Amino acid sequence: MKVLITGVDGYSGWPLALHLLARGHEVVGIDNFVTRRRVSEVGSWSATPIPSFPRRLAAVKEVLGRDLAFHRGDLQDFDFVRDVLARERPDAIVHLAEQRSAPYSMIDVHHAVTTQVENLTGTLHLLYAMRAVCPDAHLVKMGTMGEYGTPNVDIPEGFFEVEFRGRKDTLPFPRRAGSWYHWSKVFDSGDVMFATGIWNLRATDVMQGVIYGIRTPEITDRRLLTRFDFDETWGTALNRFIAQAVVGLPITPYGKGGQRRGFIALEDSMQSLRLAIEHPASPGEYRVLNQFDAAYSVNELAEVARRVAAEFGLAATIEHPPDPRVEAEDHYYQPIHDRLVGLGYRRTRELEDVVREIFRDLIRYRKRIQARRHVLAATTQWRSEDSASALAARAPAPTAHPAPGTGGEDPARSLA
Ligand SMILES: NC(=O)c1ccc[n+]([C@@H]2O[C@H](COP(=O)([O-])OP(=O)(O)OC[C@H]3O[C@@H](n4cnc5c(N)ncnc54)[C@H](O)[C@@H]3O)[C@@H](O)[C@H]2O)c1
Repeated sequence: MKVLITGVDGYSGWPLALHLLARGHEVVGIDNFVTRRRVSEVGSWSATPIPSFPRRLAAVKEVLGRDLAFHRGDLQDFDFVRDVLARERPDAIVHLAEQRSAPYSMIDVHHAVTTQVENLTGTLHLLYAMRAVCPDAHLVKMGTMGEYGTPNVDIPEGFFEVEFRGRKDTLPFPRRAGSWYHWSKVFDSGDVMFATGIWNLRATDVMQGVIYGIRTPEITDRRLLTRFDFDETWGTALNRFIAQAVVGLPITPYGKGGQRRGFIALEDSMQSLRLAIEHPASPGEYRVLNQFDAAYSVNELAEVARRVAAEFGLAATIEHPPDPRVEAEDHYYQPIHDRLVGLGYRRTRELEDVVREIFRDLIRYRKRIQARRHVLAATTQWRSEDSASALAARAPAPTAHPAPGTGGEDPARSLA
């Protein structure tokens, strides 16, 4: 199949491209490198050094013997989106290119507006371009399990049967998101569902759980590594915990640490996306997949990180700072995830093994984390109006580069 990936330079887009190429699919990518710029904006960088994009492409050619086609551009530009779709005519479009940080969206009004305008605009541009140019293509849209929030009942895959005042219907399950970012995903879901209905498009809306891990079987070379964000704005809780342990800081689950979420290993998330691509939704179908493998509480993740750190001779402690977010810190959490298994999904990685693998990689890049350790503490507060100034007042990053020659964050240097 010919698969177009929006956000191919990102954490999940990059390994997905490698995974699909290795299985014989043709892959075309789009990116504008905004994640690289925004991670720099908060004074951070990926713990794994990420080469410039031309170098990434060269490494793919050398290691996998395959070409990855690429279009640099912004999904905010409708003409660009329509022209790429018209030129490439993909069978499937995996849409990953969105502002994906909840804390980033909570910094202030400007970050909230940017997040929602960009995310909804990109999705609408893709939907309109698909209708105009390739209405048979299958859209695999990355949503998030965070759309559902943490209701006190089981969470179905998108829809549930309701009986109200003696009448029954199957309706979208109520969403109760926890940040402006997560609400942008909810609004996206409504738009994708509506477009499939009125234009007979095919779509799979992936309620993606939190992904963990840096490696997939295709990442056999340092130049092929994907990014690993560890700062409070862009890093996941598990990423932060491992980075904290690696540089000798306490591991800090927010609040009581009873917050439960769905998680999936990077390799298994790639497997799931491939299964969704290879088994497309039907014309007019809006299919929802809850894409996670197991649920863990933040305390359980902290404990795994502490235990594995000890295996590497790192004596980490666990501390509980106040939760900067507004969320239940102890709650029921039981989402259903049957559809993926129905498509053939099988777990290949266990949490603790992947955490061990991450430690091995991160210890190699310890100096890069050490140089940016000031970005690990929680600064963005859900209730405060001062997050932007708190971020600005944070200790600046040291200017010295800890590992010269190991790759910068500026993709444009060799793209000009
Ligand atoms: N990583 C996770 O654990 C996780 C969990 C749930 C949902 N998701 C969703 O999966 C998707 C991918 O996540 P990720 O972790 O790979 O994020 P990422 O930020 O690493 O990757 C997104 C890529 O898209 C690009 N991009 C963003 N806006 C763009 C635009 N307007 N035009 C062109 N390119 C643009 C960025 O430069 C980046 O390379 C996101 O939609 C995210 O919300 C991720």
